Amino acid sequence: MNSSTVICVLLVLINLSFVKGEQTLEASFVFGDSIVDAGNNNFIQSLSKANLPPNGIDFMANGGKPTGRFTNGRTNADIVGEELGLKDYALPFLDPNCKGKAILKGVNYASGAAGIMNQTGRLFVNRISMDIQIDYFNITRKQLDGLLGPSNAKELLMKKSMFSITIGANDFLNNYLLPVLSIGERISETPNTFIDGLIKNLRGQLTRLYKLDARKIVVASVGPIGCIPYQKQINRVNEDECVDLPNKLAKQYNGRLKDLLKELTDNLPGATFVHANIYDLVMDIMTNYTKYGFQTASVACCGNGGQYQGIIPCGPQSSMCKDRSKYVFWDPYHPSEATNLIIAKKLVDGDTNYVSPINLRQLKDL
Ligand SMILES: *[C@@H]1O[C@H](CO)[C@@H](O)[C@H](O)[C@H]1NC(C)=O
Ligand SMILES: *[C@@H]1O[C@H](CO)[C@@H](O)[C@H](O)[C@H]1NC(C)=O
Ligand SMILES: *[C@@H]1O[C@H](CO)[C@@H](O)[C@H](O)[C@H]1NC(C)=O
Repeated sequence: MNSSTVICVLLVLINLSFVKGEQTLEASFVFGDSIVDAGNNNFIQSLSKANLPPNGIDFMANGGKPTGRFTNGRTNADIVGEELGLKDYALPFLDPNCKGKAILKGVNYASGAAGIMNQTGRLFVNRISMDIQIDYFNITRKQLDGLLGPSNAKELLMKKSMFSITIGANDFLNNYLLPVLSIGERISETPNTFIDGLIKNLRGQLTRLYKLDARKIVVASVGPIGCIPYQKQINRVNEDECVDLPNKLAKQYNGRLKDLLKELTDNLPGATFVHANIYDLVMDIMTNYTKYGFQTASVACCGNGGQYQGIIPCGPQSSMCKDRSKYVFWDPYHPSEATNLIIAKKLVDGDTNYVSPINLRQLKDL
């Protein structure tokens, strides 16, 4: 090769990497419920807490001690951040250390028992509902202006941040489906009316995030909540069966969610809303659990009560399985870290069956 060929090749390479437009991810802002709560509920009066061992037993960044995460290790939000190059996990908003420069890496607002609706999760006394989580982000937003100046803060949020929202399961499990008449909405509303309300609220919430400069936004669908050990236990279904109504409601909501995200991407200039198809992803893992190396997709690793250990949440009195990597579910409600790893990797690099219209690595690089 002569030197002009070399230069030419170099120019092509430089050009390609420019076209590929790799972005560095600097911050992750996490909203949602206990699936991604990183400890906010430790700081409020709530009955929904994971601050007791053996929760966190595999969370090495904290020496295997509980952090408030409702799983044995990392949440899927933690792992997605790592996969996309983040060095630190976003701190819980209510953590006293979540101030100053720490917020430049992002903030976690998620709260166990929270829902799209304010009243969801009432049974747990306190929780930070989605509306309040966005109020909190509005506080962070002003702090970022103070730290970086308005134009750099905008740049960080619009180009170098990812926003993830994992919410909705509690609106069914801890609201609509609750048999307690004074709390559940089922007595007064049809599924259609209730889901209309969820979508209307969520549209408002996502639009508020956009107004506060969120642009790269991923929203998780509700998983197959009729297949969690708790539902299987209280409804006494067979090992290879799930409870029909919760799954039906989740699917109905998820269809509407997908349309909503497309509508928002079409209507809000510069924003991309990605649909994380958690429902089909978890269904695949549960149906094909042996293929993924699991021993069971129906029994909780840590819990108590019946054949699925599905009634009593994980705590010091619970029985715990021997090999945590062989269980799809950590406790009666939440996936194990092993499951979170599979989910996170499919969201980051997977195809449109599970994450659409683009995957999270492509979203980061926009
Ligand atoms: C939920 O609560 C927030 C904060 O108190 C309030 O701003 C919002 O209007 C409430 N939403 C509904 C639908 O009641
Ligand atoms: C953020 O807070 C300010 C008040 O400090 C308020 O005027 C504004 O409407 C809020 N923005 C959103 C999107 O909630
Ligand atoms: C289970 O795996 C098979 C083979 O990969 C796949 O065709 C099927 O769709 C999976 N099941 C679910 C429920 O995703």
